[in-house]
Amino acid sequence: MSKKILVTGGLGFIGSHTVVALQEKGYEVVIIDNLSNSSLEVLGGITKITRISPEFENLDLRDKQAVNHFFDKYPNIEGVIHFAASKAVGESVQNPLLYYENNLNTLVYLLQQLKEREAPKFIFSSSCTVYGQADELPITESAPVKKAESPYGNTKQIGEEIISDTCKVVPHLKAISLRYFNPIGAHPSANIGELPIGTPQNLVPFITQTAAGKRDELSVFGNDYPTPDGTCIRDYIHVMDLARAHVVALERLLDDEQTGNYEVFNLGTGKGNSVLEAIKAFEKVSGQKLPYSFVDRREGDIIVAYADTTKANDVLKWKAEYTIEDAMESAWKWQQKLEEKNNSEE
Ligand SMILES: NC(=O)c1ccc[n+]([C@@H]2O[C@H](COP(=O)([O-])OP(=O)(O)OC[C@H]3O[C@@H](n4cnc5c(N)ncnc54)[C@H](O)[C@@H]3O)[C@@H](O)[C@H]2O)c1
Repeated sequence: MSKKILVTGGLGFIGSHTVVALQEKGYEVVIIDNLSNSSLEVLGGITKITRISPEFENLDLRDKQAVNHFFDKYPNIEGVIHFAASKAVGESVQNPLLYYENNLNTLVYLLQQLKEREAPKFIFSSSCTVYGQADELPITESAPVKKAESPYGNTKQIGEEIISDTCKVVPHLKAISLRYFNPIGAHPSANIGELPIGTPQNLVPFITQTAAGKRDELSVFGNDYPTPDGTCIRDYIHVMDLARAHVVALERLLDDEQTGNYEVFNLGTGKGNSVLEAIKAFEKVSGQKLPYSFVDRREGDIIVAYADTTKANDVLKWKAEYTIEDAMESAWKWQQKLEEKNNSEE
């Protein structure tokens, strides 16, 4: 019988791609999402790709009673992948309590339920933001966690501590934190992708929206950083690679292959690309010139971050396969599909 996996935030950007990857590997998926940053249409996109409609519970994980009822209703969940969170750094500075409530209370409620179960498996969405500006590159998992630059970043650090502390006293709980670098791209079918609400906070949706004519030009924050072309460097990882990594990590837990009951892995490509290189990659695959201009540095931006992926490569036997061009191509295809849809609705 196929195993049942709960994916919280499963209608979001990374969650939806992971649901597809899980279903394609034969897992039965139940999604919890409160649609605060996603839409029900994503369910249709997932179903179109996999021909399987996942079970869906429209539930707010901040509602402890509702979380408890969920686990009564689904007693046979074998693993949980926890994506649901608020993720806008700027918003977290303006509204820290929303972030501490949404990103930490929800985690606590899930772990409280899981610790009562027989063999709970838990995967947590963490971020390279925990490293801040690392002293050494590429960044390994043993690089020190730096003081968080924002309440959002702090929720990832505290989230990891909550899991680690819980694992120490709940030995039957098996957990993995995955520290993502910079997820970009979309499913190659363009049936699911990233749906930023309002002005995108991340580079790639801003690029594709600019190319689609929704924005006049892209602002590149700073061109005087100590990098070869003066712009910031990031490790852009295709969301398809990221989704597959979640299945691999889950199977490590389900197959009892862990050393210790709490592990942490970086998920990146191991390669850094500057903002200008990312723009060039987009221009190459889209055949479009992107209008952009340089503006002042943005406060709090890390200059360079890219992953040492040795641990994920060796231990998880996972390696990113897609290139930045693949990711840009899929993101562009997704943007064009969104535009077609918007135009047909007007
Ligand atoms: N996208 C990135 O650049 C990035 C980088 C590092 C880490 N992460 C982490 O990965 C996870 C997923 O990110 P994403 O980009 O897919 O974000 P997303 O906003 O697209 O997806 C999150 C989903 O969770 C849902 N959600 C939020 N709060 C909820 C609640 N209280 N109850 C139920 N559902 C709730 C939202 O509606 C949304 O569908 C987040 O934890 C995020 O912090 C993302």
